[in-house]
Amino acid sequence: MSLITWSDSMSVGIAEVDDQHKKLVAIVNALHDAMLKGHARNVMGPLLDEVVDYTVYHFGTEERLFAEKGYPQAAEHKQLHDDLTATAKKLRADVAAGRSIISHEVMRFLRDWLSGHILSEDKKFGKWAAGAP
Ligand SMILES: [Fe+2]
Ligand SMILES: [Fe+2]
Repeated sequence: MSLITWSDSMSVGIAEVDDQHKKLVAIVNALHDAMLKGHARNVMGPLLDEVVDYTVYHFGTEERLFAEKGYPQAAEHKQLHDDLTATAKKLRADVAAGRSIISHEVMRFLRDWLSGHILSEDKKFGKWAAGAP
């Protein structure tokens, strides 16, 4: 079973952002599947890399849109991205070094930040962008 199921309620109304969110959900679900199947670090590691790398790429896309559209809350939103990136990179380093494993707790954390951030901050931006000139 998928960890996260995409639904239209997660749409922020910007196709480029929605497509990237769907891809992020798919990668996080793939990591979750690998964990459930008991795959070792050599399988999970590259998937976790993909989660982190795609997240960084995705945040870059959103921040480019903030700049293009002149989003007034860009700085606060970018700070949240930076915090999430730092946490995700620390997790990757801990897993790579064998200090941490991909557990249900880790997957819950990934699920909660992904859906929580999309539903609150990204939607806020989407709503603002829909009304922006
Ligand atoms: Fe996002
Ligand atoms: Fe965001």
